[in-house]
Amino acid sequence: MKTPLLFCLLSALLETGTCVSCEVCYSPHDSCMGNVQVCNERMDSCGIIKSETIIGEIKSPSFIKACVSSRQCRLSPLFMTFGNGISVTMNIACCAGQACKTASITVPPANTTLNGRSCPACISVFSHHCNEEIIGCTGAQTQCIRMSSTVKSGNCPLAVSPFRFPHPGGSHAH
Ligand SMILES: *[C@@H]1O[C@H](CO)[C@@H](O)[C@H](O)[C@H]1NC(C)=O
Repeated sequence: MKTPLLFCLLSALLETGTCVSCEVCYSPHDSCMGNVQVCNERMDSCGIIKSETIIGEIKSPSFIKACVSSRQCRLSPLFMTFGNGISVTMNIACCAGQACKTASITVPPANTTLNGRSCPACISVFSHHCNEEIIGCTGAQTQCIRMSSTVKSGNCPLAVSPFRFPHPGGSHAH
């Protein structure tokens, strides 16, 4: 377990990087308020993440303020389909300082027109294994993605990590 604060102090001394502090919170509505926390070394920006998870007929919106990696700032909006009627639309806005208080974000509607590409798809919770099915990609979906995430809430720090995105052009849909 690394100590973010110690890392920040070392970074400051060695001038190898900067440590960011972000407001961290979660809500199923369009805004939230939470405590400011020091981000770990891989999370170098504050982010506002709005998403809608669809499971069959059930739509669950979420609004998160968190520490994010600045690589994630350039990836949105995202529309991901996992098969079995499960999809996630998500938009990330990165922000700094006071702008994070007022920044707003929208999630554009998903384009569900098939585009001829396909990916192996599956989703599982509490496990790294799942049974893949081949699903058709829609709209601007051009890449397959493999992703894992951990979310802690309650009295524990909430962070979104680690997303694993393919490098641009480094992964191809079939
Ligand atoms: C939706 O996706 C299809 C397939 O990629 C594309 O031809 C169409 O222009 C898109 N529609 C909109 C409104 O973006």
